[in-house]
Formats: sequence, structure tokens, C-alpha cells
Amino acid sequence: MLQDKITQYTQEIEAFAPNSAHDVEAFRLKFLVSKGVVKSLFEEFKTVSSEEKRVLGKVLNEFKQLAENKFKEASEQFNNAADSGQNKSEGDLTLPGEGFQVGSRHPLSLVRKEIVEIFKKLGFVVAEGNEIEDDWHNFSALNFAPEHPARDMQDTFFVKKQDGNDVVLRTHTSSVQVRLMENGQPPFRAIMPGRVYRNEAISARAHCFFHQVEGLYVDEEVSFADLKQTLYHFVKELYGEDTKVRFRPSYFPFTEPSAEMDISCSICKGAGCQMCKQSGWVEILGCGMVDPNVLENCGIDSKKYSGYAFGMGIERITNLKYEIRDLRLFSENDVRFLSQFETEII
Ligand code: DAH
Repeated sequence: MLQDKITQYTQEIEAFAPNSAHDVEAFRLKFLVSKGVVKSLFEEFKTVSSEEKRVLGKVLNEFKQLAENKFKEASEQFNNAADSGQNKSEGDLTLPGEGFQVGSRHPLSLVRKEIVEIFKKLGFVVAEGNEIEDDWHNFSALNFAPEHPARDMQDTFFVKKQDGNDVVLRTHTSSVQVRLMENGQPPFRAIMPGRVYRNEAISARAHCFFHQVEGLYVDEEVSFADLKQTLYHFVKELYGEDTKVRFRPSYFPFTEPSAEMDISCSICKGAGCQMCKQSGWVEILGCGMVDPNVLENCGIDSKKYSGYAFGMGIERITNLKYEIRDLRLFSENDVRFLSQFETEII
């Protein structure tokens, strides 16, 4: 009889006094799983007469409640039972998540972003060109003479196309200047980050690819004073107010006059260290006034317009910021190196 069974199990449940998580689990397996006592009594309930149903429905529901409450109470008493029992199969949604490792930004991305942000605030827009370039954009338009040594196979990766024409992997981001100027008229005020390639043996100090940021400003009456002022501002923003700056005359085919810019060593503050080879100064970029030939090559009236340009290596700037002495670290993807930098917030 159903009523008898219910009475008997009720007594058993009321007397249940677990000593361990194991007992609690045994209780669950006996009463609460899908082939357990509670379910089977409900099955049996379906077969009884309707008069009996009227009486037993309530009794059975109370019995079920009793079994569940007893289990809950016992689980709480033996915490582990809750984990290893019911919750193992259904998952306890109240438990904290397992956590996962968040990535970090690559140091070169961090520094590129910092550089770009400084110039954006001065009204520079970001422009991009192609990593695979033709001779015109990488060399000829930039006033490189046909026999210029930079075109040499030793420096440049030449790639043969199927149509027989050579293309190059761009050796500098100055090629983006040309793309920009060819496609519009001044004023131009752009910052151009990107990856460049040179045919160099890989070592701590040289790599076959690295990253540059190019800057270009072309308008009426742009002068060398504008260039200096902009770069002073840039350096102080990046390395701090007390950083000293000096310009040395230099030569680039695409600028006239040309200069290289040094800053007081950001690591030893000018006292002399390994990074600055004891000189207290480190070179961080090349710059100059855009050569009128370059403007004309890009269809810009060099009598009306003048401009300045500069180019810097992101690796160099990063090395000085974080005291990194081996370029290979940037491309080896060693998590021990990469995880030292700012964690990406996602
Ligand atoms: N393109 C030069 C290089 O790769 C860097 C450079 C120097 C860029 C002077 C410039 C510049 O725009 O004016 O070494």
C-alpha cells in the first residue's frame, strides 16, 4: 500500500542522522535521484484510485518536501557533500568562476600608442601605407639617386613578382609620406606608424623587421623652428620635462636640411651608462625639411608649400623606456618577457 510505504519512509527519513558526507550522498541516491524512492512513489501514485488520490496527494507532497529538506539540512552540515553530491552533476552556479589569464599589451604596441597619442593631440592624423612597396614609393619619389647604396640588395628585400617587376618590402615608413602627398593637396599633418624590413642578420642589435613612426607636416610657411618645437614637445611628453634635446646636422635624400635628434639618456639621465655608451646622449630620430624635389615628385608646388618630416624607430624608443637590451625579445613571444607589461583590460 502506498500509504504504508510513505509512513515507513517518513520514519526512516526522520531518523536519518548522517555521520559523514558519504551518508548524505547515500541518502540522496536512495531518495532523490530519478530512480529514487520519491520518484517511484509518485509513479505508484498514478495507479491508485481517485478517492485515495484525494487523500494521498497532499501526504505525498509533504513527504517529498521532507526528503528534500532533510537532504538540504544534511548537505549544509557536511559542506563537501553539497559539492560532491547534487552539485557535481548540476554545477553550483553560486561558486566563484575559475578565472582565466588575461593577456598583456606588447611593449611595442604600448609605446606606439603613446607616441601616436601625443601627436594626435597636436592635430596629426594617423595614416598607413603598404608593407609591400614599389621602388617609386620607397626610393625614387623620396629623391634616392639610382645608385644610392640603400637600394643595395644587402639592405633591401627585393621580391620578384610574376610579371617580372621587382617590388620591395618597405625599408622605412617614409614611403607613406609619398602615398599621402600623391593623393591630395596640403595641408598634411600625419603620423604614420608601421612595420619595416631590412636585410640584416638577426642579433641583439639588429633585426630583419622592426617598427617606425613617420611624421609629416606640409603647409604654407612651415619652418625648421616648427619642427624643433614639435619635437621638443614630443620628447618632454614621452620622457619627462627635464629631458635635454640636441640636434646634429645629418643627411637624408628626402630632407634638406636634415638632422638627427639626440636626447639625454633616459636611463642614466646623462651621467653615462651602457645604453648610451657612456656619452649621456642617445639618438632617437632623423628629421628635416622635406626636400622640394620630393614635394614636386608628389605633385605639390614647392614654391608655395614647405614641410618637415621625421622618422623614429619604435624599438629604440621602447628600449630606452624599459631598458631592453636585446631586440630579439620583441619577436620571440616569450610569455615571461611579455607578461611584464601592462595588462590589457577587457
Ligand atoms: N627614413 C629614415 C630611416 O629609416 C628616417 C627618417 C629620417 C625619416 C629623416 C624622416 C626624416 O622622415 O626626415 O632611417
